[in-house]
Amino acid sequence: MAIIRSVIRGVGAYLPKRILTNDDLARMVDTTNEWIMERTGIEQRHIAADGELTSDLGIAASRQALVRAGIDPVDIDLVVCATATPDRTFPATATRIQAGLGISKGAAFDVQAVCSGFIYALAVADNFIRAGQFKRALVVGAETFSRILDWNDRGTCVLFGDGAGAVVLEAQSQLGTREDRGILATRIRSDGRFEELLYVDGGPGSTKTTGHLRMNGREVFRHAVQKISGVIEETLVSTGYAPDEIDLYVPHQANKRILDGIAKKLGIPTAKVMITLARHGNTSAASVPLALNQAFEEHRLREGGLVLMEAMGGGFTWGAALARW
Ligand code: UT7
Repeated sequence: MAIIRSVIRGVGAYLPKRILTNDDLARMVDTTNEWIMERTGIEQRHIAADGELTSDLGIAASRQALVRAGIDPVDIDLVVCATATPDRTFPATATRIQAGLGISKGAAFDVQAVCSGFIYALAVADNFIRAGQFKRALVVGAETFSRILDWNDRGTCVLFGDGAGAVVLEAQSQLGTREDRGILATRIRSDGRFEELLYVDGGPGSTKTTGHLRMNGREVFRHAVQKISGVIEETLVSTGYAPDEIDLYVPHQANKRILDGIAKKLGIPTAKVMITLARHGNTSAASVPLALNQAFEEHRLREGGLVLMEAMGGGFTWGAALARW
C-alpha cells in the first residue's frame, strides 16, 4: 500500500572560521592535548565570532542543504530548529532562520532537547510530513555552546564547540515496505530524573541569566552507552533490521570512547561509524547533521544505503532514527 515518507533530499553544514585547538585550551585551563585526545578524541573545535549568532550558523547550513536538494527556500513549509543556544529567549531561532531564508509561509519553531535535539526535530518533522500537514521541511541543528561554557571548568570547556547542520525533507509516495527510501523509523525518549547530571545553571525563568553548562561527565558517560544502545535496538526491531544491515552509523559526536562502546555492543564495525568529533568536538544538536554532511562530502551516503542516527543529551533525552538515503 502506498504511503508518504519523508525523503532526505539534501544535507548541509557550517562551521565558524575560528578554530580553538587543544593546545590553545592548555594555555587557558589545567589540561593537555594528550588528555583531551586520549579521553575524548577531540582535536579542535570551532568558535563563533562576536556577533555571529546561532541563526547565522543555521542559515548558512540550510542554504547549502537547499542548494544540494535543488529546492527553492520559498517551497519550504516547515522549519524546525533544534537548539539549546537560541539567539534570544524568544522568538524561536527557527523563525529567524525562516526569515533569513526569505520564507514567509508555513510554520517555524524550535525544539529543545539539547544534544538529542536533531533526532527530536527529525522525528517531529517526519511525523508532520507523514500526517500530510507539510510537504517540505527544513530540519536544522544549530548551536553556539561557546556562549554557555564556563571557560574555567576544564571538565566541560574542552568538550564543546559551535556549528550547524541541516537536512531538507520532502514528502514522497513510497510502497510502504522496508525497502522504501526516506525516514523508516524514529524513537525519542527522555527521563527528567537525571537533570542534575547535565544542565545549565541559569535561565530566564529562574535566574534571569543565561547560566553555564554543568556536567557530571563520568555519570553521563555511564548512562550514554546503555541508553543509546537500548533505543537503537528498539528502532531496529521496529523495522525488522539487524545491526549488520546498517550501511552507515552516524552518531552524536560527544566522545570517541562512547561511540566505540556502542558500536562494539551492537556489533557495528568501526569502518561503518562516522566519527567527526576530532574536527569540531561536541556541537550538541548540530553533531548529527555535521557528521551526516561529512559523510555526504566523502561519498559515504549512497542512494539506497541504510543510515542509523542517534543522540543523547541533557534531560536526559535520547533517541535514534533510521533512514534509507
Ligand atoms: O553530549 C552530551 C553528552 N555528554 C557526554 O556524552 C559526555 C560524557 N562524558 C565524557 O565524555 C567523559 O566523562 C569526560 C570526557 C567528560 C571525562 O572523561 P573521564 O574519563 O570520565 O574522566 P573523569 O571525569 O573520570 O576524570 C578523570 C580525571 C579527574 O581527575 P582525578 O579526580 O582522577 O584526579 C578529572 O579531574 O581527569 C581530570 N580531568 C581533566 N584532566 C585534564 C577532567 N577534565 C580534565 C581535563 N584535562 N580537561
